[in-house]
Amino acid sequence: MTERTLSIIKPDATQRNITGDINSMIEAAGFAIIAQKMLKLTFEQAKKFYEVHSDKPFYEDLCKFLSSAPVIVQVLEKENAILDYRKLMGATNPINAEVGTIRNRFAISVDQNSVHGSDAKETAVSEINFFFSDIELVG
Ligand code: CMP
Repeated sequence: MTERTLSIIKPDATQRNITGDINSMIEAAGFAIIAQKMLKLTFEQAKKFYEVHSDKPFYEDLCKFLSSAPVIVQVLEKENAILDYRKLMGATNPINAEVGTIRNRFAISVDQNSVHGSDAKETAVSEINFFFSDIELVG
């Protein structure tokens, strides 16, 4: 079944000029990038996006990092996009990310882990709606 997922290319990646390399991996894996834009989030916007993690000890640092430099937010479409993008990203902590994944190749640490992807159908819908209106989805 064709699905959509939200991807964020995080500040550590935009700051190292590797967004093209990451998009190449995404496209080579069969995803269509059906929406994409660069944003510089405020700390408050990052807090709202990551609200689900607000009880975690790393929440403040996570939001500081996400709002520290521009990010690219994008909507990816393919069959089983949500699970397949999580596989392509690799484990959250790059120490555990398999060879061939984005985080194995590019992530610096569990914080600076280059990409975010939605973790379930409901979160994909709410995360896509957080950043995009229907008119911006061009798939
Ligand atoms: P992401 O997939 O964007 O979702 C939440 C983020 O929190 C995660 O990637 C990590 O970058 C970050 N994070 C920081 N510390 C931790 C931790 N101890 N466990 C899980 N995620 C963490």
